[in-house]
Amino acid sequence: MRKKMIAGNWKLHCNLREASDLLLDLRRLLSSMRHCDFLVIPPYTALSQAAQKLEDSRIALGAQDIFYEDKGAFTGAISGPLLKDVGCTYVLVGHSERRQLFGETLDSSLLRVKAALRAGLKPLLCLGETLEEREANRSAEVVLAQLEAVMRECTLAELEELVVAYEPVWAIGTGKVATPQQAQEVHKLIRERFYAQDAALAERIRLLYGGSVKPENAGELLAQEDIDGALVGGASLKAVDFAAIARACA
Ligand code: 13P
Repeated sequence: MRKKMIAGNWKLHCNLREASDLLLDLRRLLSSMRHCDFLVIPPYTALSQAAQKLEDSRIALGAQDIFYEDKGAFTGAISGPLLKDVGCTYVLVGHSERRQLFGETLDSSLLRVKAALRAGLKPLLCLGETLEEREANRSAEVVLAQLEAVMRECTLAELEELVVAYEPVWAIGTGKVATPQQAQEVHKLIRERFYAQDAALAERIRLLYGGSVKPENAGELLAQEDIDGALVGGASLKAVDFAAIARACA
């Protein structure tokens, strides 16, 4: 059985004070929950402090983006070795906000996955279609193309390090959640693509759902056969809500 993972993407929220309070609350509320794995993804400025606050806890640390070069004249960029150095074990790649607002492409998501793996970080690869694409019945095509851009260039050993999140763009921050059936359908498709590569890998790989996950809808989503956890945005900023989402998959 795949162990569920609940991840919180804090996006551009939390100064050091707020991050410290949130982490303290999370440690307290999550410490007795053994049924799933936890990951928090604060903004860069809070990573160093977060690594200290999370020492000896069961909560892993991740970053929101990675540049694909390891060092050099790349003003404003952040590299895999620096994220590893500060205590990260995961990094988001291809979040739709990065794809839409910062011009990340299919090719650059592959480079980022490779950079993460080079640095010993686990890539959490985000896939998802826009509302326009869903309405044109192109969800499967779009999501599989995003996945393919990475899979076709990775070895089996590299793919073993991956976590994948399906985050329909129309459900992110909109309060409009995919129905459990809609989400399951895409997750199944993604897992089938992994089966085509390797059955054992497909059985093991964790596929998270993201997009307006809340305590009220988490139970039904997380009960779906191919949904192995949640990538939570807004609700991850409230420790009680994040803990309630985790309880929903017990
Ligand atoms: P919301 O939970 O706020 O919709 O955000 C989802 C998300 O983008 C997580 O990466």
